[in-house]
Amino acid sequence: MNSILLKNGRVVTADSDAVCDILIEGETIVSIGRNLSAEGAQVIDCTGKLIMPGGIDPHVHLEMPFMGTFSSDTYETGTRAALHGGTTTVIDFILQKQGNSLRSAFEEWSGRATGNAVGDYSFHMAVTDFNPGTKEEIKDMVAEGITSFKTFMAYKGALMIDDAQMVGLMQEVKKHGGLVTAHATNGDMIDTLIAQHRAQGKLTPLYHYLSQPEVTEAEASGRFADIANYTGVQAYIVHLTCEGALNQVRRATERNQRVLVETCIQYLVLDASLYEDEANGAKYVMSPPLREKKDQATLWAGINQGLVNVVGTDHCPFMWEQKLMGKDDFSKIPNGHPAIEHRLELLFSEGVNTGRITPQKFVAVTSTNAAKIFGLFPRKGTISIGADADLLILDPEKKHTISADTHHMNVDYSAYEGWELTGKIETVLLRGKVAVDAGETKIAKGYGQFIKRGKTAF
Ligand code: URP
Ligand code: ZN
Ligand code: ZN
Repeated sequence: MNSILLKNGRVVTADSDAVCDILIEGETIVSIGRNLSAEGAQVIDCTGKLIMPGGIDPHVHLEMPFMGTFSSDTYETGTRAALHGGTTTVIDFILQKQGNSLRSAFEEWSGRATGNAVGDYSFHMAVTDFNPGTKEEIKDMVAEGITSFKTFMAYKGALMIDDAQMVGLMQEVKKHGGLVTAHATNGDMIDTLIAQHRAQGKLTPLYHYLSQPEVTEAEASGRFADIANYTGVQAYIVHLTCEGALNQVRRATERNQRVLVETCIQYLVLDASLYEDEANGAKYVMSPPLREKKDQATLWAGINQGLVNVVGTDHCPFMWEQKLMGKDDFSKIPNGHPAIEHRLELLFSEGVNTGRITPQKFVAVTSTNAAKIFGLFPRKGTISIGADADLLILDPEKKHTISADTHHMNVDYSAYEGWELTGKIETVLLRGKVAVDAGETKIAKGYGQFIKRGKTAF
C-alpha cells in the first residue's frame, strides 16, 4: 500500500490551525500529529506551506448542452484543470430534458463522465419538468446518491419551472430528506427586458447586464425562500450575486429559516464595468451578470456573517468562437464563465492575503461547508483520521500570473488574464495519490470516481 508522510505543514481546517504531520496510507489519512515517522513512506517536506482540504466546487457545468452548443470542458479537461487549482471534487448538474425522465438524464451524464474524469465528481439533478413521473423518481435519485435537486426560475422554455412545480418538487424532496437549490432570478421579467432591448436595437453585451437588474434576483430569491419556508424543505441558492438577494436571505433568518447561499468567485472579484468594453464584454456574459462594487462588499461581509456559506465557480466555459455566436445580439451569447482552475488561488490572494477572510474561513467556504451541505462530510471536506486524503499544499508567499497560455481549462481566453496572485497551490493529493505537483499532472483520466452523496449534515 502506498504511504505518504507530509511533514511540518501548517494544517488548516475550518476549525483548527496547527503545524503538524499527516500520514496517509492508501487512499485515506491514518495519523495526524507531531514528529510522525513511517518506514518506506514518501516524505514531502511542507515547511512554510499550508496544507488544506482539497477544494469542493459544487457548481460546475462540464460538456453541458446549453444555448445551442456545449460547454467546452469535458470531464477529463475540466476535472484536470480543477485539480491544478486544488479542487479535488466537483459537483456537476445533470439536466433533465423536458418531457423525459430523470433516469435517462442520469444515464446520459454518467456516460460522459464514467472513465473520463481525472478528479472526483458527483451530480445534482436539475428538475426541469416536475410531473407525476418525475415525482416518483425523486426517491430513486436519492438512492443513487443524488440528494440535491436544482431548479431554474429562469431560461423559460428550456429549463425553467413554474411556482406550481416548485411547490410540488419541494414537498417531494422534503419527504426524502433532500435539498432544493435554485437559480433564483425572475425569468419572465428578464425575458421581457431582453425583448425590449432587442426591439430597441440595443444588442451589445452591456444589455445582457441591463436585462437582469438586481430586482430580478432579489424577487426570485425571496419567492424561493418563501416557498421553501412553507414546504419546510432545506433551500440553497446557487450563484447569489447581490445585496438585494442577500437581504432576502437575511429576512428569512428573522422567521428562523436558514437559506443556504453560494456565491461564486467572479462575483467577489469582478464587476459590471467590464460590460462597457464592447469587444470583450461577451467574456463576462453569465447569468446572473456581474454586479456593482457595493454588491461585492455585501458578499465579502456575508461570508464573515455566515450568510454566504460557499464560494463556487459556476464554471461553464465557452471558446471565444462560441461566444461569437452572439456578436450581433447579446441574447445569443452562450452564458458562462471559466473559473474552475482559479477559484482557490483567487480567493486566497484576494481574500486571505488581503485580510478579508481568515484561512479557516477560506477552508470553510471552499470545501468544508459544501461537504457538509451536500452530504460528502466527513469523507471529504476536512483533514481527519479516516477521511479521504484529498489535500492541497499551498505556498502562501509565491507569486504567479494567470494566463490562457498556461491554464489547463479547455478555453482559449482567461477572464483573469495577467492577474498577479500571491499564494500558489504546488501539490495536490486525491485519495492518497499525488495528482498534481509543480504544474504537472500525475494521474490519468479514469482515476476520478463518482461519489455517492448522503444527506445534508450542516
Ligand atoms: O451563465 C451561466 N451561469 N451559465 C450556466 C448556467 C447557469 O445558469 O448556471
Ligand atoms: Zn444558473
Ligand atoms: Zn450554473
